[in-house]
Amino acid sequence: NNHLVIMAGGVGSRFWPMSTSQLPKQFIDVLGCGRTLIQLTMDRFKGICLPDNIWIVTSAAYADIVKEQLPEVAEDHILLEPCRRNTAPCIAYVSWKIKAKNPKANIVVTPSDHIVMDVREFARVITSAMRFTADSDAIVTLGMKATRPETGYGYIEADLTIPCPSNKEIYRVDAFKEKPDLATAERYLRRNNFFWNAGIFVWNVNTIVNALRVYQPAMANIFEQLLPYYYTDKEQEMIDRNFPLCENISVDYAIMEKADEIYIFPSSFGWSDLGTWGSLHENSKKDAQNNVCIGENIKLYETRNCVVHATQERKVVVQGLDGYIVAEKNNTLLICRLSEEQRIKEFAGD
Ligand code: GDD
Ligand code: MG
Repeated sequence: NNHLVIMAGGVGSRFWPMSTSQLPKQFIDVLGCGRTLIQLTMDRFKGICLPDNIWIVTSAAYADIVKEQLPEVAEDHILLEPCRRNTAPCIAYVSWKIKAKNPKANIVVTPSDHIVMDVREFARVITSAMRFTADSDAIVTLGMKATRPETGYGYIEADLTIPCPSNKEIYRVDAFKEKPDLATAERYLRRNNFFWNAGIFVWNVNTIVNALRVYQPAMANIFEQLLPYYYTDKEQEMIDRNFPLCENISVDYAIMEKADEIYIFPSSFGWSDLGTWGSLHENSKKDAQNNVCIGENIKLYETRNCVVHATQERKVVVQGLDGYIVAEKNNTLLICRLSEEQRIKEFAGD
């Protein structure tokens, strides 16, 4: 009864210009390993969820890419959003859909663009968390030890004094803070009970549906009313008409910052949200000068601490840079200080 939901409708704007709205990073073989990030995500859950219980939620625009990259997922398990409304409506849509046929489903929700080093430990943690939520109405988050004052993540303040009786690796959460400013993140980093939210959630379908009813009643209403159309040939038309009415809000703001019954499973399986060029740099093989090159035809001279990305047809030569991103794709060239990479979102929009 374990279901897997892969959220795959983001545009990955901090990874511009490698990631674009036509082809976001989850559909790219960012690591150069022969599998795209969404394919690697699905690979990680083999043995946890049966192929029949896998759901992909994405933008209608990416329907063909998903079908091509994940041929093992049934077409009617690929849910298509007519517009981008962030992760709360994405989760609401799929949760009501699963509940309609499977009122006792147990669900793990994951982003489609992360990397995990220790896949065995990952599977152990997910399985253990799912055993916990099978008979407890808890929202479980996976917490990663914070190692830098990252402002691109959500932070979980855990109460580490008493573990849960039924699973000694799981603790109560005191507070959840989505994407704090730098001063706040630095304060959190000095404490030992703050963790990064990995963006991976485990809950049973009733828990999340009830949480949405309580904290996002307008959104919950929309999907409740669509219930008669699920699994009929009218579903897409009704979704196309009603989905845009949902508030544009992430699950972190919509539920996590508000709900009471939140639990954390502090874990360490070598995790990174491959969200930015800096995280790619951190997680890739570096040369002797601490550079990461992605591309066949890159030459570096007196260059250190850089990440350089070039598409096949381009030759890229860099001299004398320290701590920069140099990335080209589709007639776009980005040269940006690595330390300023959170601003790429703003550049990509111009
Ligand atoms: N279907 C769908 N629709 N998926 C979406 C949408 C949408 O509108 N927007 C984003 N996604 C997908 C992305 O493709 C990604 O896989 C996942 O949802 C998370 O979205 P991000 O946009 O990458 O979120 P984030 O990285 O800024 O923040 C979240 O993840 C962090 C860890 O990676 C939050 O949960 C943070 O609290 C967390 O620390
Ligand atoms: Mg992300």
